[in-house]
Amino acid sequence: MSSKNHKFRFSDKLEWGLDATFVPNKRFPVYNWFYYKEGYSRDLVLKTLEMLKFSPASKDFVLDPFCGSGTTNLACKEAGINSVGFDLSPLALLAARVKCRTYNAKKLAEALVSLREAHFEPQDRSWVPGDVAHYFNPHTLDDVIFFGKTVARIQDEETRDFFRLGLINSATRCSYMFKDGSVVKMQKHHVPPFRKFYFAHMKHMIHDAKKFKAGGKKCKTIIEEGDARAIRLEDSSIGCVITSPPYLNKIEYTKIYRIEEFLFFGGREGKDRGVRSFIGSKADTDILFPDIPASANAYFSDMNRVMRELYRVCKPRAKLAIVVGNGCFPDRVVDSDVLLAELAEQAGFKVNSILVLNRRWCTRNRVEKVGELRESMLVLEK
Ligand SMILES: C[S@@+](CC[C@H](N)C(=O)[O-])C[C@H]1O[C@@H](n2cnc3c(N)ncnc32)[C@H](O)[C@@H]1O
Repeated sequence: MSSKNHKFRFSDKLEWGLDATFVPNKRFPVYNWFYYKEGYSRDLVLKTLEMLKFSPASKDFVLDPFCGSGTTNLACKEAGINSVGFDLSPLALLAARVKCRTYNAKKLAEALVSLREAHFEPQDRSWVPGDVAHYFNPHTLDDVIFFGKTVARIQDEETRDFFRLGLINSATRCSYMFKDGSVVKMQKHHVPPFRKFYFAHMKHMIHDAKKFKAGGKKCKTIIEEGDARAIRLEDSSIGCVITSPPYLNKIEYTKIYRIEEFLFFGGREGKDRGVRSFIGSKADTDILFPDIPASANAYFSDMNRVMRELYRVCKPRAKLAIVVGNGCFPDRVVDSDVLLAELAEQAGFKVNSILVLNRRWCTRNRVEKVGELRESMLVLEK
């Protein structure tokens, strides 16, 4: 389906292409505390707020129902705007919460001193299966388990979460993991000594926390566990939505965090929460679009629920910006931007435009071109 032959107004905004990735966040303190591959950037949020003419003076809340690592919420906080974010992934929620809080740097510095003084003891590593352990050298894994337990004993929840996120980040950076698209690969290379790295990283995070400036007026930033298909907010309570749901046919990306989920989120108890995908995972769903693969219909069926929920929670005239990627299948491209715009219209929204942020190729067997794959921003209004 080409962008030319249907009713929606398309325009290119390819100059925002890089902003639709997480890459620019690497330069920004706090935003870069956790590298969330499927996230977008601070600048995309700030530019979108400006484009939607959402005033920082407004008391309205911006909603991100798929908040991931909290980019929307942190950018809103920086601009002095109230915001609320929901996600279902424990790892994403930890990252978003830690990044969006306001800290007492002195308290964090004291906790770092205690952590440095902790008396190291060798750890039982037998509960870590080989396919997780082989991404670490044994000394690093020992340290990671030891500090995991030490951090878990920190009484104050916010301080504990702060050191936990830093631990996860440091463990990844001192491992042989290499995240290539949606798979984790092994790349043996020199890794820095874990303890030294972790302490330096925490010092750095404390410095960032001290320096981060929230916007002019005091604003509220709320991050909660919640499902975008059943949003826990009142009707007509939201002034603006900036978000990006999982992309069609890319839902497996949660697998790339399976090591972090195993080591830090209950892997020891045998829970494997990380590989659960939350949108489009149900087998028997409504057939909304008969000409697309069944798995794609499961996705649109869930996204239909999301659109209806967004319509319910938005105030009249609320503006929405939703970043989506089209789906690459071996025999075709599914234009999610057009189909989601259809669902948005059916839910009651006016589709103002579809801005194309990136054009890539969908390929089969890595080289054969199947079609053009757009990444777009739907601009909607209630
Ligand atoms: C594309 S990412 C969003 C990234 C975010 N914009 C950022 O910059 O970090 C999509 C997120 O949706 C979350 N998710 C998937 N299904 C969900 C659901 N039903 N409800 C809420 N969040 C969900 C995933 O855990 C993931 O963090």
